Amino acid sequence: MPQNNGPKELETYLEEVAGGDPHVRAAAGVLRDVAAAASQLSRIIGLGRLGGHPGASLGRMNVDGDVQKELDVLANEIFVDSFRQSPVAAVVSEEMKEPLALDPAGLLAVAMDPLDGSSNIDTNVSVGTIFSILPVLAGRGNAEAHFLQPGRKQIGAGFVIYGPQTSILFALGAGQTQIFTLDRRDGRFYQTLPAPVIAAEFTEYAINASNYRHWEAPVRAFIDDCEEGAEGPLKRDYNMRWTGSLVADAYRIFMRGGVFLYPGDQRAGYGSGRLRLLYEANPIALAVERAGGSATDCVRPILDIVPSSVHAKVPLVFGSPACVGLVARYHSDPQFSDRAPLFGNRGLIRP
Ligand code: F6P
Ligand code: MN
Repeated sequence: MPQNNGPKELETYLEEVAGGDPHVRAAAGVLRDVAAAASQLSRIIGLGRLGGHPGASLGRMNVDGDVQKELDVLANEIFVDSFRQSPVAAVVSEEMKEPLALDPAGLLAVAMDPLDGSSNIDTNVSVGTIFSILPVLAGRGNAEAHFLQPGRKQIGAGFVIYGPQTSILFALGAGQTQIFTLDRRDGRFYQTLPAPVIAAEFTEYAINASNYRHWEAPVRAFIDDCEEGAEGPLKRDYNMRWTGSLVADAYRIFMRGGVFLYPGDQRAGYGSGRLRLLYEANPIALAVERAGGSATDCVRPILDIVPSSVHAKVPLVFGSPACVGLVARYHSDPQFSDRAPLFGNRGLIRP
């Protein structure tokens, strides 16, 4: 029911935005499914060991080589089941090797990471669910074909964060990014925050710095310059945060700006970083752009990349637009990354 005085309910927002476009209406339905499934998963996560051992390892890997946990598999089932009554033609998930075909007449294809950050379950740190909604391609073909479209084609995308609050952050249709928070008293999501706008400048960066020795020169140079703070070429002090849950680092950036980097590096299997294009980078990138931020693979906008396969990885840099642009310059302009004596006093050559 629409609320007149209190915060807006998710259902009301979805009705308002869906309009007459059949794809956007169908995507709004998928968002309802995601919200209902997330409310169920939030309860299970909130119980912790009272509900069994959700962080227990199943002793096997998913397609990306991450150890599968009981909760990874359960989350996958809960979300897939939630799409069974909706016009969803196929689902790609981090926890399933092959795309799963559902409604042959469905208008939409959904890619998801059902439980992002699952290595954090037993440490009581926020985890999440990331989702991307694409239109199916005319003429159909095999299920995989629908997913090999650039992220710019997404009709809706975002993530749920299961933290101190459970919230869903998404962009639908041509809309701005919005945030709705689960009221655990009635199981519904309400809008308690204005549409987030990512700060243009950054004072905080997020990167797994233990990989420093594996990074390429431009990434090392950028992080070196951040670490040098006010005495270095960037001429200001920076703070650093890394949670190990993409959703938690992303949510923080929506709230107070900053930049996240998971670049490619020289470790075997990490040439394109660790994160997946379809169900991690693309949905985050859409939500980030619709909140005034930027997202690249260090150079190119994430949303312009045509996926080569459903589980393809991609280097990911997102957040405050001035900073994402700066990282791109470290990659394309030797003045920014060259440590040669010519550029010894690098503060002088900054714009
Ligand atoms: O899903 C992959 C993921 O767990 C992200 O949530 C997170 O940002 C990243 O991997 C953490 O990577 P690392 O283990 O290198 O810190
Ligand atoms: Mn993940």
